[in-house]
Amino acid sequence: MPQIIDGKAVSAQIKDELKVRVEEMKKEGISLCLAVIQVGNDPASSVYVGNKKKACAYVGIKSEAYELEESTTEEELIKLIKELNERKDINGILVQLPLPKHINEDLVIRTIDPSKDVDGFHPQSVGALCIGQPGFVSCTPAGIIQLLKRSGIEIAGKECVVIGRSNIVGKPMSLLMLRENATVTIAHSKTVNLKEVAKRADILIVAVGKPKMITREYVKEGAVVIDVGVHRNENNKLCGDVDYDDVAPVCSAITPVPGGVGPMTIAMLMNNCVESAALNR
Ligand code: GUN
Repeated sequence: MPQIIDGKAVSAQIKDELKVRVEEMKKEGISLCLAVIQVGNDPASSVYVGNKKKACAYVGIKSEAYELEESTTEEELIKLIKELNERKDINGILVQLPLPKHINEDLVIRTIDPSKDVDGFHPQSVGALCIGQPGFVSCTPAGIIQLLKRSGIEIAGKECVVIGRSNIVGKPMSLLMLRENATVTIAHSKTVNLKEVAKRADILIVAVGKPKMITREYVKEGAVVIDVGVHRNENNKLCGDVDYDDVAPVCSAITPVPGGVGPMTIAMLMNNCVESAALNR
């Protein structure tokens, strides 16, 4: 059977390391505070935001929650972000996505000061990643790199296929794997012969958003399989983009859903908040 890559354990390890670092920073008089903004009350977003606040409390980062009405205007949201940009006591600003349809997400993201962009979504952060300069990196892809490294999986020189090209996962993931010296292919819904392309991968990273789409026909024997998807199946149980039971017997390592990539996103958000406080002290 394959190595089960334990995201719960690795994320707990990272949060514990951060907790120690935060205690030391506090002794030096550095304060840490993340502003978390949610507009409307999408139930999934409320769960994510709740988990982010809990993680902050665990690590020792103060969180300031802004739960705004669905009817909040773009101008009101922009005004709030500008105020938070100016505040010296706020190290990170997180606007939970998606936003209601009447608000321009791109404009909102561009308003966040890049030095407080702990989500790594600002074009300046993405551009910095692209040309190998320092900046915040989107949390899910950054978490996957940590998951691979801390699970003893070599990246340099490996064939990596990323399926999915979203701004939040696929694109930054590809850039990070390139930075780690993998040979990277980005596949997507228009890729011809996806099964054959996916089968090139020593490390296959799947972020397609379709439950159990990836069966063993897409996986080379002995590959490492990273599943970014989270869905509820017909029995209300969580499943990923990868058909775990079908793929597990043929791969060398795999992330489960839940307990794989999911917990890493918040651990890396905490990491970005700590880095932000350390850099701007
Ligand atoms: N919505 C889904 N994932 C994310 C995330 O990582 N950050 C934010 N801000 N919103 C999200």
